[in-house]
Amino acid sequence: MKFFIDSADLGEIKKALALGLCDGVTTNPSLVAKTGRKFDDVLKEIVALKPGPISAEVTAVDCDGMLKEAEHLTAFGPDIVVKIPLIIEGLKAVKLLTARGVKTNVTLCFSAVQALLAAKAGATYISPFVGRLDDVSEDGMQLIEQIVEIYTNYQFKTQVLVASVRHPVHVLRSARIGADVATIPYKVIEQLAQHPLTDKGLKQFLADWEKVPKA
Ligand code: E4P
Repeated sequence: MKFFIDSADLGEIKKALALGLCDGVTTNPSLVAKTGRKFDDVLKEIVALKPGPISAEVTAVDCDGMLKEAEHLTAFGPDIVVKIPLIIEGLKAVKLLTARGVKTNVTLCFSAVQALLAAKAGATYISPFVGRLDDVSEDGMQLIEQIVEIYTNYQFKTQVLVASVRHPVHVLRSARIGADVATIPYKVIEQLAQHPLTDKGLKQFLADWEKVPKA
C-alpha cells in the first residue's frame, strides 16, 4: 500500500520523505489555508521536493471553471493530480481531463455508488473519507471494503485512496482490505511507529547495557 501524506506543510512533507514514508502528497483548501501562504507558492515548493503524485484541488463548482483551474494546476509539472469534488459537474470534468491524459483524484466520496461513477468517468484515484463517516456514526472502513469489491468485480483501474485517516487502525484496516493508497496526516505516520512495549523494552535494554563492563 502506498503512503501519501495529507498535508500542505513543507516541514511535514520533508520529514515524511526523510523517513521513506512518502509516496505522494494530498492537499485540500483547508490544509492550504492552515499554512497562511499563497497556494501557488506552496504548490511550487511541494513540486520541487519531488514527493510523487501531488493532489491539488480545484475550487470551481462548474465544469468549465474546473477545466480552467486544471490547466493552471497542471502547468506546475507532471506530478500534479487534479483533485475534483464528486458532484455532477466534477464527473463531467473528470471525463474530459482523463481523455486529455490529465490525472484526477475525485474527492469528498461518501458512498460506493459515488465511487462507481468516478471509476466510470475514468478517475485516477477515488478518495473516500473514512474519518468523516465515522464522525457521523457510520463505518468508514466498510465503505472501503465495498469500493474495493466493486472495483475488483469490474477490474476498474481507478485506485482507492483512503482519505480522512484519523488513527493507525484506519491504516491497518486499509492495508488488510487491500486499498491502493492511504493519505495520512504526519501525526498518524509517527503514531504508526509507536508501541509502549517498544519504549519499555528499549528503556530496559539501555539500563542493562549500563551494567555491562566496558573496556
Ligand atoms: C484528503 O484528500 C482529504 O482532503 C483529507 O484526508 C480530509 O481529511 P479530514 O476529514 O481529516 O479533513
